[in-house]
Amino acid sequence: MNICVIGTGYVGLVTGVVFSDLGNEVVCVDSDKAKIAKLKRGIPTIYEPGLKEMLQSNIEDQRLSFTTNLSEGVNKSEIIFICVGTPQKNNGETNLSFVESAAREIAGNLREYKIIVNKSTVPVGTGDLVREIIEKNKKYQVDFDVVSNPEFLREGSAIKDCLTPDRIVIGVPNKKVANRFLELYSPLERPMLITDVNSAEIIKYASNSFLATKISFINAIADLCETAGANITDVAKGMGYDSRIGREFLNAGLGYGGSCFPKDVHSLVHTAKKFGLKFNLLENVIQINDQRVDFFVGRIEKRFKKLKDKTIGILGLAFKPDTDDLREAKSIEVIQKLLAKGARVKAYDPVAMESARKILPKVEFCKSSYDAAKGAHALIIITEWREFKLLNLERIKNEMACPVIFDGRNMYDPERKRRLGFEYYSIGRK
Ligand code: UGA
Repeated sequence: MNICVIGTGYVGLVTGVVFSDLGNEVVCVDSDKAKIAKLKRGIPTIYEPGLKEMLQSNIEDQRLSFTTNLSEGVNKSEIIFICVGTPQKNNGETNLSFVESAAREIAGNLREYKIIVNKSTVPVGTGDLVREIIEKNKKYQVDFDVVSNPEFLREGSAIKDCLTPDRIVIGVPNKKVANRFLELYSPLERPMLITDVNSAEIIKYASNSFLATKISFINAIADLCETAGANITDVAKGMGYDSRIGREFLNAGLGYGGSCFPKDVHSLVHTAKKFGLKFNLLENVIQINDQRVDFFVGRIEKRFKKLKDKTIGILGLAFKPDTDDLREAKSIEVIQKLLAKGARVKAYDPVAMESARKILPKVEFCKSSYDAAKGAHALIIITEWREFKLLNLERIKNEMACPVIFDGRNMYDPERKRRLGFEYYSIGRK
């Protein structure tokens, strides 16, 4: 099939690359000239395992191309995916201005029947909005259909998630369009749900909000474990064996970050409000998440009485492992709070330091975990990169001014850490 993908952010780039790898002819469009120039040369603009190889091989096989010219992409294609950013407004609402302008531009270039698909995360009703915009702005009397096909990929495993999704949700206006999508996705051989556009839009927000709820729930239980003298790792394990609950997304820690959960939970609360409903449960989910860092930094402060002139080593900056993404990363919040209290901060992350330099100019960036530990009064684990599990802890201890670890992701076994001579604090464990 001939496909156009508008927007080459996380979702757009990965979607375009994967569709081309499945044998489709794909044109990816973005207004950012520098980005398109890089992608044309086969250089990925994000860090994602497996992306570079897939990008380069499909460019070489001439199934994948990049352009800043939207009209070229639209004219060549039968299906047009809108994958532009949907940031958050100050009041929690989703900012749809990029989606709206993409719809207007598509309308101006519509010369024959096309299927226009919202793949970006957009609130219920956006399918209708896109239809209205195109209807109002189209120059020729041509027919078109609008589909909702939300994306469920995770950063860090985006290619894998795209190739083997748990489910593919397709919100369609009619059977004819449904059949085109069943054909498009049939090579993946994964479960597909055909539904109406509004339901597909809600499925995406409900899924992300439910996962965020699991995280805030386990964090609230972690606080209880800590006070009552129990172990959150065992509690989560014990709960997770129940197949109705499941073990995933029950890792207690500093809370959820990233470009999706914080924004999507706020957006769903806002959408409910728009329809006259108060989503108290999700408001509490947000509140629990927002308190995690304060609680964690408070504990560090309590240990040292004063943080002024203390050297703190940070391990992990990305909002989660296997990505260089710092959006809503807990590291930023923790570091800003430590700096405000007068601490000196050194940090190391395997891939996110380049982006971090721009956001955190007062931090000293180190070339390894051992470097970050050098002279530190405390070491703080913020992102659970696998390489931190494999550290030579004897060497870490020798580098530090004071062998204290605050583990924000429960990476290590507390008993073992203590045996090695560390003063070790984690989340929800005695
Ligand atoms: C999330 C969803 O998992 C994807 O299905 C969805 O497609 C994506 O949002 C999106 O809407 O685009 P992502 O934000 O990449 O994906 O990352 P997750 O792996 O879901 O992690 C989100 C946050 O939750 C991270 O900060 C992570 O550290 C935190 N988390 C996750 C926990 O604190 N505990 C857990 O048990 C799991």
